[in-house]
Amino acid sequence: MKISIAGASGYTGIELLRGLLPYKEVEVVQITSRQYEGKYLEDVFPHFSSTKYAELKFDSEIDPECADLYFLCLPHQPSLHLVKELIDKGKKVIDLSAAYRIKELTRYPEFYGFEHSYPDLLEKAVYGLPEIFRDQIKEVSLVANPGCYPTATLLALYPAVKENVVSSEKVIVNALSGISGAGRSLKQQFHYPEAFGDAYAYNPVKHRHIPEMEDVVQRFSGKKIGIRFTPHILPVSRGMISTVVFETSLNKSQLEELYRLEYRYEPFIRIQSSPPHIKNVVGSNYCDIYVDYDEKNKLAVVISAIDNLGKGASLQALQNLNLMTGLPEDKYIKELSENSILFP
Ligand SMILES: NC(=O)c1ccc[n+]([C@@H]2O[C@H](COP(=O)([O-])OP(=O)(O)OC[C@H]3O[C@@H](n4cnc5c(N)ncnc54)[C@H](OP(=O)(O)O)[C@@H]3O)[C@@H](O)[C@H]2O)c1
Repeated sequence: MKISIAGASGYTGIELLRGLLPYKEVEVVQITSRQYEGKYLEDVFPHFSSTKYAELKFDSEIDPECADLYFLCLPHQPSLHLVKELIDKGKKVIDLSAAYRIKELTRYPEFYGFEHSYPDLLEKAVYGLPEIFRDQIKEVSLVANPGCYPTATLLALYPAVKENVVSSEKVIVNALSGISGAGRSLKQQFHYPEAFGDAYAYNPVKHRHIPEMEDVVQRFSGKKIGIRFTPHILPVSRGMISTVVFETSLNKSQLEELYRLEYRYEPFIRIQSSPPHIKNVVGSNYCDIYVDYDEKNKLAVVISAIDNLGKGASLQALQNLNLMTGLPEDKYIKELSENSILFP
């Protein structure tokens, strides 16, 4: 199978290429970047100099005929149109942007500032969270790869909502993200002197990932649950934590049993006996989850940790690639995950 990666010079694109290195069943035939057009991969990213893709050159635009499957690691709006063009040509697409993640059309102008021009295609897209939508992912040509905060949050919430043990109509979520979540282009607030030693909340009442999370919860459970979401920036490159709080009548051991049972066959979910650290997941496709219970307030506290570029983006995209192409779901990704974690 031939693969093209659009936006390969960005953080998710280059992490995807790292993840594809061990694959024998697929060949990356094209990588794109406008600013690096004509340059060799190894000249832009020297850590690829000893790899089989060292002499791949960046093209400025994708060639819609050169590959069978396209990963789009682009901003949302360019992705919106490119997906349509590629699907019309019969190609498979894994889109890492948010352009096809939310089913409700009105949310796009409100949260992303553009009208969604392809409602039929939006309807067909499958949300690429394998733990929830595995069977549909196997059958589809267009996967909308989830956002990083939604991945961490939905995995912390899924067993409880699915088993109907969330007794409140609202769920409180506080989340922390490393700076690579904002992408590779330069922004003043992410310059080293400004970001180092700092941490802060942003978009505390209206973040783009809220409609995505609410939409997915409704899709798998039929329930309208409000997500009260506050994201924070952490001065680290990679890693993300989501703390999810909800009312429930289950106690700690019942909750933990529920999560262990739901995720017992999941290759990339690890239920932990203490609160998870980003250091234990960075570089991997793991999601570490810890379940606790606040007896006094009758509140469940579920904490998840992922790598925003791993399970939160590119390695999850490879999990979807494996499902779409009939490879074992954890092939190559498991080994890569285990070999990538650096502690301390
Ligand atoms: N970073 C994360 O943790 C994360 C997690 C989940 C999902 N995502 C989503 O994944 C997508 C990529 O994110 P990223 O963090 O990898 O972004 P990034 O680091 O900013 O990279 C964006 C890539 O797209 C290219 N690009 C930018 N504007 C373009 C345009 N108008 N037309 C064509 N190419 C363009 C860039 O290269 P040139 O400018 O050289 O063309 C670059 O290769 C985004 O939609 C993001 O929301 C990111």
